[in-house]
Amino acid sequence: MKPKHVLHRIHRLDLPICEPQPSPTTPHIDVMIVAQVALKTLVVASAWLVTPIASQASSSLTNNLNDCVSDNDFQAGIDYFPDKFTPVQYTPEFLIGGNEFVPDSTTDVLTIDYFNTYKIVTNKHVNQTYLLYQCGTEPPADQLDGRHHIVLSVPHKGGIAITGTTQIVPLEMIGKRSEIRAYIDNPLWLTSPCMNTLIDDGKIEVFYDENDPYNSTITKGFRQEFLRRNPDGLIFGTLFGDPTEERVMTISASNERTNVATFDWIGLFAALFNLERVSNRIAAETKSRYDCSAANARVLSANRVDRPIVLWAFYFEGLGWSLAQCPTWDHTYYCEMGEHCGADIINRPEGVGTEQYGYWYLNDDELYEVGKDADIFIFAMNTWDSVYQRKNETLDKFKSVQNKMVFDILGQGEWAWSEQRAAEYDVVTLDFCEIVGNGNDVSQFPHKVKWFRNAIEDAPSQEIGECAPEDVYEPYEPLESFCTPLPADYSSSFRSGSFTPIMSCAAVLMAMLFR
Ligand SMILES: *[C@@H]1O[C@H](CO)[C@@H](O)[C@H](O)[C@H]1NC(C)=O
Ligand SMILES: *[C@@H]1O[C@H](CO)[C@@H](O)[C@H](O)[C@H]1NC(C)=O
Ligand SMILES: *[C@@H]1O[C@H](CO)[C@@H](O)[C@H](O)[C@H]1NC(C)=O
Repeated sequence: MKPKHVLHRIHRLDLPICEPQPSPTTPHIDVMIVAQVALKTLVVASAWLVTPIASQASSSLTNNLNDCVSDNDFQAGIDYFPDKFTPVQYTPEFLIGGNEFVPDSTTDVLTIDYFNTYKIVTNKHVNQTYLLYQCGTEPPADQLDGRHHIVLSVPHKGGIAITGTTQIVPLEMIGKRSEIRAYIDNPLWLTSPCMNTLIDDGKIEVFYDENDPYNSTITKGFRQEFLRRNPDGLIFGTLFGDPTEERVMTISASNERTNVATFDWIGLFAALFNLERVSNRIAAETKSRYDCSAANARVLSANRVDRPIVLWAFYFEGLGWSLAQCPTWDHTYYCEMGEHCGADIINRPEGVGTEQYGYWYLNDDELYEVGKDADIFIFAMNTWDSVYQRKNETLDKFKSVQNKMVFDILGQGEWAWSEQRAAEYDVVTLDFCEIVGNGNDVSQFPHKVKWFRNAIEDAPSQEIGECAPEDVYEPYEPLESFCTPLPADYSSSFRSGSFTPIMSCAAVLMAMLFR
């Protein structure tokens, strides 16, 4: 059985270019963001047209190569990687409540060090390094003593096996869906329409035993079979796998502390293909939109008397309710979202609930005591309808349920949340800001909540995306968050109408994208 396809790609729209509109009351970033939206399609399309081969005459490169160096062209002593992974910086200024944060490169567990003809990737989470050397050059002899778990020539051409759906979108965003040769996991969890097309066409093999899906002997056999068929292939590993297995490169993105850092792992995917310039740009643009919504939330919440109270909970059959834990703002992605959007997420009070295997669960009465007065209830799973059916008597007593302010994660179908959410952290967060009432200025520039569903008022999304034949290898472009910064003196400038020029252009873009 196949899940419904969901598509967010922007299909070759002829987007108008918004001219910068100087405005005395709006910061310069306004125009930048709106203009980026328009330019993005063009830039993505041209970004891979990098110089194919170093010309013999040149003594330095302006781009990373998108192919191998031939013997004739190789020049010792030049930097073959002028484009380097640069993790974006988290902007502490945007932390409203502010637990301690060391302003640093965002990634805690990923670094890439560059040398003339090779790069060394370090995954500190699994204590491993991977040596990536420019295809067509000799790998550095002094590095080949077994210290690197994987030695790989780049741009990588041997194919990739995916073992978890979150590994898909970063590859799709840098335009390398074409390198995926196998999917070793449950096909039901796949959302990407173009992945599904490639599977249907036999271009991507699926390895999955539905009768014994969690048998590690069987899944290990699948990985070995993939390597037998793709001797130069690479397997992306998950946090639950064995990092020491042959040709497994563990993707530890979700082990990072912040949404920004999790997303920055797109730099590793790009480094495999010398596409750091592309990933740096995508990461920086996403981050600037994220900063924008944080700034707006701060402006909008400045005039509010109370911060909205959010009950963020999961329900596990046979165990009970699991409540958010936000000892620090960067504890989980949703703690960060609460901080970002100026909302208070309810923590499980000390001693409430029952502990099982290190996790705490609340029964219905305990949940009621803790969460009855919350303004908003986020049920961060895909089972609200069945849980509500059985527990309506209790749940109907919650203020959030009475006010129809319950949201689950079915805004984009059943599985897209896990697969794609982290790659659209700017959009998910703006969604959350919108729900708590600190999103965009609704009168001028409404944000349509994409990832959450109002679980009481709306049916689960049945959005069906498709992958046009000419798009199967095109980059995935998430719908952007369209945040437009509000000036700090928002209400007065709104009245004076100084916002209008930028808004009208942005509105044109919106209209085109949502038509
Ligand atoms: C990685 O190495 C560090 C220091 O060498 C050590 O403290 C840590 O436990 C190691 N982690 C793993 C997963 O082996
Ligand atoms: C896993 O599968 C193998 C091969 O089919 C089988 O021999 C083994 O008993 C299975 N292991 C478990 C724990 O079921
Ligand atoms: C709960 O749902 C059941 C079945 O749908 C319904 O019969 C019952 O009246 C509901 N209870 C309340 C308090 O609404």
